[in-house]
Amino acid sequence: MPSRRRFLATLPLAGAGLLGGCRIATPHQRGQAGVRVPAGSLRRLLVERFDALNGRSQYVADLGGRLVERPILVARRGEDVDAEIVNRLPQPTTVHFHGMVLPESQDGAGFEVIAPGASRRVHFRVHDRSALYWLHAHVHGLTAEQVHAGLAALFVVTDEDDAALDAALALHEQNRIALALADVRMDSGRIAPYAPTAQDCLTGWLGNHMLANGIADAVFDVQAGWVRMQLLNACNARGLLVALRDGGTSVPFFLLGTDGGLLSHPVALERVFLHPAERIDIAVDVSGQQIVAAESLAFDSRAHAHSAIPEMKHPVRSRYAPLAAAEVCGPGSQESALADGTPLPLFSLRVQAGVGRTAGKLPADLSALPLEDAALPADARIRRFRLDFDERSGFLIDGLPYRIDEIAFRVERGQREVWEIKNSPISMSHPMHLHGPGFRVLRRQGTFGPARALATSSGGRLPTDLGLKDTVTVWPNETVWLATNFALPSEVAFRGAQRYLFHCHNLEHEDGIMMRNFAIV
Ligand code: C2O
Ligand code: CU
Ligand code: CU
Repeated sequence: MPSRRRFLATLPLAGAGLLGGCRIATPHQRGQAGVRVPAGSLRRLLVERFDALNGRSQYVADLGGRLVERPILVARRGEDVDAEIVNRLPQPTTVHFHGMVLPESQDGAGFEVIAPGASRRVHFRVHDRSALYWLHAHVHGLTAEQVHAGLAALFVVTDEDDAALDAALALHEQNRIALALADVRMDSGRIAPYAPTAQDCLTGWLGNHMLANGIADAVFDVQAGWVRMQLLNACNARGLLVALRDGGTSVPFFLLGTDGGLLSHPVALERVFLHPAERIDIAVDVSGQQIVAAESLAFDSRAHAHSAIPEMKHPVRSRYAPLAAAEVCGPGSQESALADGTPLPLFSLRVQAGVGRTAGKLPADLSALPLEDAALPADARIRRFRLDFDERSGFLIDGLPYRIDEIAFRVERGQREVWEIKNSPISMSHPMHLHGPGFRVLRRQGTFGPARALATSSGGRLPTDLGLKDTVTVWPNETVWLATNFALPSEVAFRGAQRYLFHCHNLEHEDGIMMRNFAIV
């Protein structure tokens, strides 16, 4: 099968063909969605702030002489990553590889931070299925600020199923796109610093403009035929209802995959929810179109306001200054923020005239899904979580605040459990994320509003629930049941108890106290 070599060879890889010693800045590469870097050739990952006025920061890949700003890492399943993380921020940081099954020591979950000016080696094998993963800052109390500042990067994992799909679609290299969508507040054409009010720190920080891979009003050039897009919602708190449009008409697309890789079969859709930290893999045939605009449609977020605004300032704030000269969780107004569910343009595809190829045939079968429901033992233990609100502390899991030095519960290695997550009726949606092994969504109950309209006949699940997940949104009043599997790879690094996190990926909630440590023993 030449498909693997073809795929790797046709990616615009930064490791080859570039002049030594240069620094590549992604935003200047017009029409391109980013520079892909083989994760295996990463020597150092620099964490730097490049604008002290507004705090903007970025990851820079050092490939041994060549520097690539805001890289998109690419690895084949089974490959190794071995790099040094260099923290050039005035704050401590960590790098968490979201969605990947890593030993605790490499997971970057915030137990051991990298001090300002310090470095730390990260080395691991990529065990995961082909999918879009991502890396981001995860230092408790500073996560929201650092991710918002730009410390998030994409990590594309490929494998045989992934290559077979591209071959079947006859996908042109230019038509495979991976994007991180993150909202910012634009103020007279400039990105405003992260300066959340106390209200933002309670409900989550919202911007008014979307960046796609760091680019505002991004336009990417594609050719006729299929376009395959792997999209990440990298917003701190904003939910997206993604749709594609050509002028006034909606352009239907296919959902191919979710957080943890390909579905078993494609699902035809016209819109799909993408909440913070979730990923979708979609295919659209742009033959005959000129501009295809991706946008987030209007929806009722079902969020209910709370009367009290608790004091949310994290203790770490007394030790480190913000990345920009700004106050965090202070008084002040959020005038320029757009409410969750407000329609928002995301990015556009410009179909190049006269080039391209005939679209291949979308395969009916994409991949064998792990953790099929049938494999769940009948006597699997049910673990229950309640998402709640407290007037003094804000949003909580089971009424208890996060404590970094506490292990909230232990699960046995190899055990399969059913997790029941129940959100209260007067609340907001919480994108709940599990570190370590992914899960399947079994069923939803109590779904109302815009999500209800998308529910399938299969247990009330949404289309994105049909794949392997690491983040699941629980809407107000909903109960969601998950099939988990706490098997870990057998390599040495995973020996002994492994601490992982379960938390809300609304980053202000995460920095608040809506998080739990647990251990796989
Ligand atoms: Cu993407 Cu614990 O997070
Ligand atoms: Cu994670
Ligand atoms: Cu939350």
